[in-house]
Amino acid sequence: MKVRVGVLSAGGDCPGINSAIHWLVYSAMDKDLVPRRGMMFEVLGIRDGWKGLIEVRPEKRDSKKEWTMPLDPDIVRTWDRYGGTRLGTTRINPFNPTDDKSDLIIENCKKLGLEALVVIGGFDNLGVAYKLYRKGLKTVGIPKTIDKDISETDYTLGFDSAVNIITADVDRLRITAGSHSRIFVVECMGRKAGWLALEAGEASGVPIILIPEHDFLIDRVVELLNKRKKSGKRYSIVLISEGAKPRGMEEIHEKRGRDGFGHYYLGGVGGFLAEEIQKKCDLEVRYVALRHLQRGGAPTAYDRRMGRKFGIAAIDMVVNEDFGRMVSLKHGEITSVPLKKALDRLHLVDVEKFYNTKDYKSLDQIL
Ligand code: F6P
Repeated sequence: MKVRVGVLSAGGDCPGINSAIHWLVYSAMDKDLVPRRGMMFEVLGIRDGWKGLIEVRPEKRDSKKEWTMPLDPDIVRTWDRYGGTRLGTTRINPFNPTDDKSDLIIENCKKLGLEALVVIGGFDNLGVAYKLYRKGLKTVGIPKTIDKDISETDYTLGFDSAVNIITADVDRLRITAGSHSRIFVVECMGRKAGWLALEAGEASGVPIILIPEHDFLIDRVVELLNKRKKSGKRYSIVLISEGAKPRGMEEIHEKRGRDGFGHYYLGGVGGFLAEEIQKKCDLEVRYVALRHLQRGGAPTAYDRRMGRKFGIAAIDMVVNEDFGRMVSLKHGEITSVPLKKALDRLHLVDVEKFYNTKDYKSLDQIL
């Protein structure tokens, strides 16, 4: 019996997705596993996320070729070492209240002969996978987002690569900051979650970290910077998450409005803070937003490994008919959790445990 499984990536790209697809295909098509599983797999890649399943006309050969891609080990052989997603991605909400495409997606999955669909997505798109599961589609989720904001898993693909990029960029900025004796405000991504700022801040040893989970006071930031200057430090770096905000203010977002899921595109708080600091002290201030550089480049070894483990686990879940669930890393072990539970709430930084609200830095525990 041949079982056809679909796989798609949806939402923001990140390093590690291609590795998950590579190992999903390798595991699905491993002939040695056929006797144990009692089934053989075919894998169909869907292009550009949900868009592929909305646009495809399965009865038309050209349309099928445009929106889907049969995958086998030869095709995906080198994918694991590349960032981004070779299948493409889009930010489309199929459950848009004014233009619901969920029935069409289910219909097209049927017409394409898909027994199950593996969705590599972040909070919003795993939410779509869950809603489709509730409507009868057999879905399995793989968590990916540089924001690491999904509950019930200790890891989401892309996070480690992004932390490494931020760390390397902060190292670069130290050189120019030190030469000129300047303050650099560096803005990183993360949406409502401060994990990227916190963990990259820890890795690179920046003195001031600002996260969305704790509203900061501009005067306190200036005070901390002046204190550092007085103690003889030539330069300082402030790492601020795009979702962080001064107390009493709203998040700063871009003018381009909201995405398909109704979220504002965040960005600009670093520039705002740099100007405020400049007004309040005589230190020279510069601002850098790392933006999509954080999602670029090749996956780190850790993201390749986690992509491998998540991809293989997703196929195991299809074999075991563990649908409506998400692959998860918990306490160093690969397991699966119900999508509903994983999406119950965003996984945010526990300020009491991990953040020093007085000095705006990581709360290092003394062991
Ligand atoms: O969710 C991942 C993420 O990179 C966020 O950190 C960021 O706010 C957003 O995506 C940017 O989205 P886009 O790539 O659509 O501009």
